[in-house]
Amino acid sequence: MKRSTTSILHSAMWLFAAALLVGAQAHAQVVRALPHATAPSNAQLASPDIERRVDALLKRMTLEEKIGQLVQYNDQGFSAPTTANGDKVLAANPETRTQVDAMALARQGRLGSMLNVIGAEKTRAFQQAAMNSRLHIPILFGADVIHGYRTIYPVPLGLAASWDTALVQQLSHMAATEATTAGVKWFYSPMVDISRDARWGRSTEGAGEDPYLGSAMARAYVRGYQGSDLSQPDSVAASVKHFAAYGAAEAGREYNTTDMSDIRLRQVYLPPYKAAVEAGAATMMSSFNALNGVPATADPYLMDEILRKEWGFDGFVVSDYTAVMELTHHGIALDAATATKKALEAGVDVDMMSHFYDTQIPRLLAEHKLSMATVDEAVRRVLRVKFALGLFEHPYAQGAEVTHAVDAHRPLVRRAAEESFVLLRNAPVAGQPVLPLGDKVRSVALIGPLADAANEMQGAWGGATQASDVVTLRQALERRMQQRGGRLLFAHGTDVLSDSSAGFDAAVQAVRQADVVVMALGESAEMSGEAGSRAHLDLPGNQQQLLQNVVATGKPVVLLVFSGRPLVLDWAAQHVPAIMAVWFPGTEAGNALANVLFGDVAPSGKLPMSFPRAVGQEPLYYAQFPTGRPAGDADLSKPPGGATRFISRYIDVPNDALFPFGYGLSYTDFAYSNVRVSRRTLPLAEANRPEARSLLTVTATLTNTGTCEGTEVAQLYVRNLGASVEQPVRRLKGFQRVTLKPGESRQLRFELGFPELSFYNVHSRQVVEPTHYTAWVGGSSQATAQAAFDIEP
Ligand code: BGC
Repeated sequence: MKRSTTSILHSAMWLFAAALLVGAQAHAQVVRALPHATAPSNAQLASPDIERRVDALLKRMTLEEKIGQLVQYNDQGFSAPTTANGDKVLAANPETRTQVDAMALARQGRLGSMLNVIGAEKTRAFQQAAMNSRLHIPILFGADVIHGYRTIYPVPLGLAASWDTALVQQLSHMAATEATTAGVKWFYSPMVDISRDARWGRSTEGAGEDPYLGSAMARAYVRGYQGSDLSQPDSVAASVKHFAAYGAAEAGREYNTTDMSDIRLRQVYLPPYKAAVEAGAATMMSSFNALNGVPATADPYLMDEILRKEWGFDGFVVSDYTAVMELTHHGIALDAATATKKALEAGVDVDMMSHFYDTQIPRLLAEHKLSMATVDEAVRRVLRVKFALGLFEHPYAQGAEVTHAVDAHRPLVRRAAEESFVLLRNAPVAGQPVLPLGDKVRSVALIGPLADAANEMQGAWGGATQASDVVTLRQALERRMQQRGGRLLFAHGTDVLSDSSAGFDAAVQAVRQADVVVMALGESAEMSGEAGSRAHLDLPGNQQQLLQNVVATGKPVVLLVFSGRPLVLDWAAQHVPAIMAVWFPGTEAGNALANVLFGDVAPSGKLPMSFPRAVGQEPLYYAQFPTGRPAGDADLSKPPGGATRFISRYIDVPNDALFPFGYGLSYTDFAYSNVRVSRRTLPLAEANRPEARSLLTVTATLTNTGTCEGTEVAQLYVRNLGASVEQPVRRLKGFQRVTLKPGESRQLRFELGFPELSFYNVHSRQVVEPTHYTAWVGGSSQATAQAAFDIEP
């Protein structure tokens, strides 16, 4: 019998309500039915050939062998079987108080991947064991190669200051060519977490505060690592991390919770991960933090809904180190079994170091709390990557192992360091800017704890670094001064973290004998990176005091700031004529610094993260939102009074950055003029199409108005007014590096299409709306030359 229309309607309404309820329980945002991806994110991973091989292999695997593909251990306690200690191999996991015999697991075909096993001999020993196991499934070796394997380039935040994506791609490929000779086929990189809070130590590992720059960098790393074909001997799989929004840790405190609107998530934090997926990234790492109350490692909204369904990600997801176990600390799983179920069902395929998947999956299956299909799907994802990497054909390291910095790679990492330096100030002393150091400089005093600190130059995440490979600033300047027939006077001054002024006198004495002073101050490498959050952002220890004593001598001072994050340099900005942010520059640190100090190369770096005036401004970023009480033209350097009180401001410090995003000087000057748009109006129907590119062109003239050749990073920013949700006061939407001779001009062109003009609305949809746009072109986020256009309904 036919049911009545009313009853059909009732059932439909009930089903709809039930679906909403289920969706709301899983995650409030899942109910938004957003378009799903139609194309694979990586064609190699979607290859039918690989699928056939995966199918065939999966059919032959026991449950134990399947679970083996889903666990990852390190080699703690390892010594290769060829050494005196035999093959007693223990992977210790202190966090979960368990020990695993990684070599025994490898022999039984129950160890899918390993982390941070460095060296051809070690990887070969484990791989041999795995290849002799029943099904001969190779181990995938992953490592934290973040800014170089043996030949080290600047920390990622410094590299981002180059705004040179071609360079980043070259360096990433270079790192892959080195590490693959040791058997490493998987990098836990790039770290693409947006960081807008300099207190967060891991700011050093990413590209800074901006999603557009961050996305460009993310693509470059992935392309460099993976090449055009994962199966090439010098290609590695990228692991994009940490998914997601880890960089928004509250108060900049490491591992802290994050909470934000879906608009902010999609507009600011997700774009670099998405860009990496679109570039074909083969794997992703889930993050430690909770996002809106759900730990990322157990969040189906992030990993299933967004990553897999919306973006079409074909790779696998690995948890961060013991992150599955940490679900119990988050309090959303009271036992190992629940943590395992939540992580695996949410989409974490590989358990890094928790020792939960191998102990819990059999039980969960036996108790029918987990489906075999879920396990099989995770195994498939891992196997696809292994096949695509060609690991079954070539499981061992190939070629001569790289065990030291490679001489042939030094020019590239030197150039990278030179491009990463950001000249923040270069005031005249006796009518001449202090930098570059001219011919009249006969003696240089080099002062500070970072002047001769080889190890520190390699940053928080140098791969398999060796301090002896590094050229320090002291070594480079000694050579340089000798060549010039001059003199270098060196004094350590103080340690990075010290309250002893025992070295101050010697430093001041050296300074008195010199024409000019170069001070190498800042943080030690380990003060940033993981677990490197700081509540103070000044020069650590008593370095500020040393700086003041040196400046008090009246000699011209160049302050080189080594750091993994923006520091508060307000005193220096008023009293030190030349300041340059130099991050941690890598193996060629000293040579690169000498080249820039003496003007062989003009600085061209631009800040990827705002430098605050005071810690209390953090999180600080240029793409701020408007308020109902804008500061307008009020002079915020003065205490409030009358009309300047009830506006959005601090009473004790201006709102803006001391050195803003995008800012950086050179030894020459650049001028921007003739900013024009190719069209004044654009119909909405034409603009509001995701596939629309090059809808409008912004042009401008860039001129080198100074006296030497230089490279400028020209930047395009937009703002739109009148949208359904408020928009940032500026957003970066284009950039290019341009090298010009003195007096030379170049016409710049920036194309704007849907990706640049769109934003996320309250329904989490990326849209263009009929709004009024301003476009600025200039040398920082404070660019002034502008043009306007409208999107018309
Ligand atoms: C870090 C990751 C890293 C992993 C493996 C974790 O503690 O958060 O960035 O890749 O360890 O070393």
